[in-house]
Amino acid sequence: MNLADLNKVALAMVAPGKGILAADESTGTIKKRFDAINVASTEDNRRDYREMLFRSSEAMSRCISGVILYDETIWQTARDGTPLIKLIEQSGAIPGIKVDEGTQALPNCPGELVTVGLDKLAERLKKYYEQGARFAKWRAVIDIGSGTVGRGIPTMTAIHVNAHALARYAALCQAAQIVPIVEPEVLMDGDHDIDRCFEVTQRVLNKTFQELRVQRVALEGMILKPNMAISGKKSPKQASVEEVAEKTIRLLKACVPAAVPGIAFLSGGQSDEDATAHLDAMNRIGGLPWRLTFSYGRALQAAPQKAWSGRPENIAASQRAFTHRARMNSLATKGEWKADLEKKAA
Ligand code: 13P
Repeated sequence: MNLADLNKVALAMVAPGKGILAADESTGTIKKRFDAINVASTEDNRRDYREMLFRSSEAMSRCISGVILYDETIWQTARDGTPLIKLIEQSGAIPGIKVDEGTQALPNCPGELVTVGLDKLAERLKKYYEQGARFAKWRAVIDIGSGTVGRGIPTMTAIHVNAHALARYAALCQAAQIVPIVEPEVLMDGDHDIDRCFEVTQRVLNKTFQELRVQRVALEGMILKPNMAISGKKSPKQASVEEVAEKTIRLLKACVPAAVPGIAFLSGGQSDEDATAHLDAMNRIGGLPWRLTFSYGRALQAAPQKAWSGRPENIAASQRAFTHRARMNSLATKGEWKADLEKKAA
C-alpha cells in the first residue's frame, strides 16, 4: 500500500467546491427510478442516461470530484464508442466503483440486514483498478425499528457484523491501492426523532472506527460516508436545518478521528434542497478537522431524471437541472449557498 497516494486521492475526492456523484444504483434500484419516470430500464437507456450526466461538462469539471459507478457502467461505452470511464476522466473527475453485492437477511436478527460481497473481493478490486477505478464504495444498512417489535432494532449484532464487513472491505481496498468510501447508513425511514438517530449513529460510527482500527485500516486513506443526524421521515417532530447541522457536527466530532481526510454525506431520501441546506449549514459552522462534502445519489439526480424522462429532446434541460443541483451543492461545501439561488433558477 502506498498511503501517500491513497491520501492524495482521498483529498482530491473532497477538494473545496467539489463532491461525489453517486451514480451506482444497482440494476434493481435504477429500474425503480426509471419506473417513476416511465422509462424502460434497458442496458441502452441506462447507458444513455448516465452518458448524459457524464457529458454535463460544467457540472462535472467544476463541481464533481468523483463518480461512483455500478459494475455494468464501468465496462460500458458511450454511443460514439468512448468508454464511459474515459468521459469521467476527461472531465477531471475520478472514477470509483460500488463493490458491495447488496444485503441479505441477518440470521437470528429478524428484520435486519448484513451487506455481502467480501468473497473474491481482492480479485475484483484488481480488475477494477486496471479499468481505472481509484476509489470504491461499500454500503452497510442499519435500520431503526419502531413500535414495540422494533424497539430492539438495531441490535448490537447487526451493528457489529456490518462494521466488521466494512473494515474487511476497507482493508482489502487499501491493499489494492483503492481508497475505500466507508458507508454505514442509518436509515431515515421510520418515526424516530433526531435524538434517537443521533444515539444509534453514534453507536454505529464508534463500532465502525473500532473495527477499522482492529483491521489496521489507514484512516488517512479513506473517506467516511455517513448519514446526518436527522429526524425519521415519519416523525411528527421534524428538526430544523440548524438543529440537524449542530447535532451532526457534534456527533461527528465525537466519533470521527481527525486523521480522516473527508466526510461525504449520503442524501438518504432528503429533499434536494434539504440535503443542500444541511450541508451548507454545517460548513458555515466551520472549524472542522475534516472536509465536509456531498456524495449524493437521489439529491443530485432526481431533478435531471424528471427533466429527461427518457426523451432525447430533453437532454439539454436535464443537463441544466443536474448542473444546477451540482452548483448548489458545490456552494454548500463552502458554506456559500443561499435559498434564493434556488428560486432564481426555478
Ligand atoms: P443517496 O444520496 O440517494 O442516499 O445515495 C447515496 C448512496 O450512494 C447510497 O449508497
